[in-house]
Amino acid sequence: MAEDVFKKIVSHCKEYGFVFPSSDIYDGLGAVYDYGQNGVELKNNIKQYWWQAMVLLHDNIVGLDSAVFMHPTVWKASGHVDAFNDPLIDNRDSKKRYRADVLIEDQLAKYDEKIEKEVAKARKRFGESFDEAMFCQTNPRVLENAKKRDALHNRFKEALEANDLAEIKQIILDEGIVCPISGTRNWTDVRQFNLMFKTEVGSTADGASTIYLRPETAQGIFVNYLNVQKTGRMKVPFGIAQIGKAFRNEIVARQFIFRMREFEQMEMQYFVRPGTELEWFKAWKEQRMAWHQALGFGAENYRFHDHDKLAHYANAATDIEFHMPFGFKEVEGIHSRTDFDLSQHEKFSGKSIKYFDPETNESYTPYVIETSIGVDRMFLSVMCHAYCEEQLENGETRTVLRLPAALAPTKLAILPLVRKDGLPEKAKEILNDLKFHFNCKYEEKDTIGKRYRRQDAVGTPYCITVDHDTLADNTVTLRDRDTMQQQRVPISELPALLEEKVSITALLKKLA
Ligand code: GAP
Repeated sequence: MAEDVFKKIVSHCKEYGFVFPSSDIYDGLGAVYDYGQNGVELKNNIKQYWWQAMVLLHDNIVGLDSAVFMHPTVWKASGHVDAFNDPLIDNRDSKKRYRADVLIEDQLAKYDEKIEKEVAKARKRFGESFDEAMFCQTNPRVLENAKKRDALHNRFKEALEANDLAEIKQIILDEGIVCPISGTRNWTDVRQFNLMFKTEVGSTADGASTIYLRPETAQGIFVNYLNVQKTGRMKVPFGIAQIGKAFRNEIVARQFIFRMREFEQMEMQYFVRPGTELEWFKAWKEQRMAWHQALGFGAENYRFHDHDKLAHYANAATDIEFHMPFGFKEVEGIHSRTDFDLSQHEKFSGKSIKYFDPETNESYTPYVIETSIGVDRMFLSVMCHAYCEEQLENGETRTVLRLPAALAPTKLAILPLVRKDGLPEKAKEILNDLKFHFNCKYEEKDTIGKRYRRQDAVGTPYCITVDHDTLADNTVTLRDRDTMQQQRVPISELPALLEEKVSITALLKKLA
């Protein structure tokens, strides 16, 4: 069911100009996508909402736009050359390659599904008197599956922590996991595979050197931290925010734009005094959750997933997960990265990048709290929440994207009722004034009903209809996408009325 909805969302994205497969006429390129005419507007609005929430609302956070290419030693220092790996396994019969950890995670999910099925069956049988907690504690099939799941989870966790690739393969064999294509268990050994894309800089004759496409934007911030601090006269605590492309050679590319090979990140590194980092970590957790929830998708659709297993350089980490049609999934990571990155760059570059704190008269390496969100995942969460097939009173169904107005690609559609009697001219006159305020679209083809439906499908929050009365009294009919209610409004009042409803400023004010 949820899978069907997700398929519909993916095809809606293509049909209405939000997301196309990359190089579509060549049948696409795996895990790479292009944003169409509506997608780019929605994506830009998401980025603007994030950027303004960071840089406009905090007088101690500034922006940066660093290059995709960086000195190769950056990635040695950051640990990406040695440790930015996925464990891979091949099936010899299908010749397909899989992430070994994902095969095991899918197996864990199967045990959960079995438990959920038992619970659903029992709920149906017992009706209102059903006590789910009691059932889960006593039903033999539920208990057996829970036991198997927990045992697998512990074994898997230990193997990951010990980086024991042979044990990971053994788990796959012991669980009887088969290749979904060939159906066999003819697996190779598990190998580590580095996710960074490599390319060459300079001609071979000159002695080309290997460089990487950045797998995260964060390192551009770290290596510029002192440049920004000095030239911007920033005092700790301060933050640097950046939006930009990142590249990872993902082997298991699944769920549309959820896991891509070329994607965009919005990252902010917040530099703090050592010892204060856990307070700031807590504060940023709250701020980031508030940013998500201001969109009005319902608090129940978000949760924190605090990490039990921390990377060696982190002393706290959490994900903000959103309820997608395929389950709760990570959209943003918040990490307390200690002084690891700055210290590593100091060590590898041989240059001091310590901060002199005028308040304590000390030099130290700041600690860092990072907030890191994928633009594309955010885009997907917005689309998944907005997509709705609605049954109308007259028996028809309408497909509507209930996008938050501030994020919608088009804010206002201007529609002359008929293509004659001077209505198109009047409508264009209104367009020529309002286009300086909002992203407006003019449409005159087809019946007004069909035009409303088209705008609903791309999430336009408001339509105005220009009719014969407009010529006489300079009023228009303003239609609300969600309620479909209409009201008569003087043209002169439209800018102020709509500004309040569709601007990003209105959204940002909720964060204050
Ligand atoms: N600098 C920290 C960092 O990059 P991460 O958890 O690897 O952390 C942060 O990535 C965010 O970037 C994720 O929460 C996700 O939203 C997004 N992201 C990561 N890999 C992605 C991919 N292959 N496709 C789309 N988005 C991705």
